[in-house]
Amino acid sequence: MSNERGTLLITAGPTREPIDPVRYVSNRSSGKMGYAIADAAIEAGYHVVLISGPVAIQPPPQATLVSVITGDEMFDAVAREILHADVFVMCAAVADYKPRSASPQKVKKKEAAWMLELEPNRDIIATVPRGDRVKVVVGFAAETHDLEKNAQEKMRRKKCDLLVANDVSGDASGMESDYNAGIIYVRGRSPILLERMPKRKMADALLKIIASVEESY
Ligand code: CTP
Repeated sequence: MSNERGTLLITAGPTREPIDPVRYVSNRSSGKMGYAIADAAIEAGYHVVLISGPVAIQPPPQATLVSVITGDEMFDAVAREILHADVFVMCAAVADYKPRSASPQKVKKKEAAWMLELEPNRDIIATVPRGDRVKVVVGFAAETHDLEKNAQEKMRRKKCDLLVANDVSGDASGMESDYNAGIIYVRGRSPILLERMPKRKMADALLKIIASVEESY
């Protein structure tokens, strides 16, 4: 396996937070952007570790796949794998909330309304212990409004070197689409505007920027 550039750790897809054995809380993430980055990173010469939530697409065969279901499982997998990574790309759409407790049995349907109590999942990129090895940390920001303001604030709060902000308000790009568009913020540099393009092409563009940041350190 090629690893001339070191190890790139990437998370992709949604997480599922169980309500009971047949129901869960999740989101519309397809994993396509993260899998495209994994593919582009392999082509660029990285050893790729792909931590993935449940998706309907195939991982690149050369990637080391770590499959997870919940946000807590993803947190633990990242905490383990980040110690061996040079670049960390947090592309997964972790469910922001999880049921306070999951029922071991299927909850039976009733006529009355059902109040489900949710608690926040841990923020992985902001709180996972990073170790000394990882040099470049890349976050994503899915926004429907105030893209620039929210992205800049997220980048600071989540301590990212790079942040890819996408507008997920329409169907033409973003979640579930094969296309994406966005703005890449790099600490200390001017923002880079990426027009709507296939996710695989955006992955190549992102990899080039990651390489230039790695080289500048
Ligand atoms: N993220 C994470 N752990 C979470 C939630 C998000 O590591 N529990 C990461 C995402 O993978 C992404 C970045 O944080 O790299 C921003 O995710 P986003 O959903 O845009 O932001 P949130 O922090 O969830 O904020 P909000 O939903 O308020 O926009």
